[in-house]
Amino acid sequence: MLLLARRAVHLEAVAERVRASAKVEVRAEVCDMARTDLPSALQAMTADLDVGVAVYNAAHAPVGDLVNRPIDDLLRVVDVNVRGPLVFARTLAPKMVARGRGGIVLMSSLAGYQGAPRIATYAASKAFNIVLGEGLWHELRTHGVDVVVSSAGAIRTPGYAKAATKDAPGTLDADVVAETTLDALGSGPVVVPGSVNRLARFVLGRILPRRTAIDIFARSTKDLS
Ligand SMILES: NC(=O)c1ccc[n+]([C@@H]2O[C@H](COP(=O)([O-])OP(=O)(O)OC[C@H]3O[C@@H](n4cnc5c(N)ncnc54)[C@H](OP(=O)(O)O)[C@@H]3O)[C@@H](O)[C@H]2O)c1
Repeated sequence: MLLLARRAVHLEAVAERVRASAKVEVRAEVCDMARTDLPSALQAMTADLDVGVAVYNAAHAPVGDLVNRPIDDLLRVVDVNVRGPLVFARTLAPKMVARGRGGIVLMSSLAGYQGAPRIATYAASKAFNIVLGEGLWHELRTHGVDVVVSSAGAIRTPGYAKAATKDAPGTLDADVVAETTLDALGSGPVVVPGSVNRLARFVLGRILPRRTAIDIFARSTKDLS
């Protein structure tokens, strides 16, 4: 298993946990997904591996009105949440195609289905992941490679705990989202973990006019900090 993240301390701790519980070989590499040389760096880090399942989870999610956010912070959203998964899929898919099997998971969000005030750039980046993943699901399935996009609602993670004062309806633990998402590999293109979130997706996406869906989403993001 290859683990990539920015912070060596956490990376090594997770690697140790996986080694102890799964008895698999784990390699941990420090990698900032926003690095400009990501295509060649990722190629080098995975050159000797036959990656079976690849999960792109990293995200940058600044909160606040666009006019109040520094441009570099907004461009970082594009680097980590758009350029990152694109490079990731483009780097890892060819070997999976050659082998005739594999799986790719892209993390998205219910925020990616309509405009989401105060996290507008983040939401737009998650829309990119939904559409990219859907296209790749169709392109790669004939080569035996499964693609699934996880359009999660709120998840109890360090980032969510920092941004939200209380759990939104339908908030799930990260392990539930991970398990549901991996179970959905093979029945993509998209999975929405949690019944409350599936209902929200149906009502916001299929029943309500888009403007109303944006208004409702604005209510759920107005208290984020
Ligand atoms: N939490 C939710 O409510 C929620 C809802 C829907 C979808 N999601 C999606 O679920 C995924 C995980 O979210 P989360 O809540 O766990 O987010 P989080 O708590 O904010 O953590 C984000 C993770 O991404 C990493 N990251 C950020 N920038 C990076 C970079 N340049 N290079 C490498 N790693 C980077 C962070 O690493 P550091 O620790 O080094 O900062 C951190 O581990 C994301 O794709 C997010 O969009 C989350």
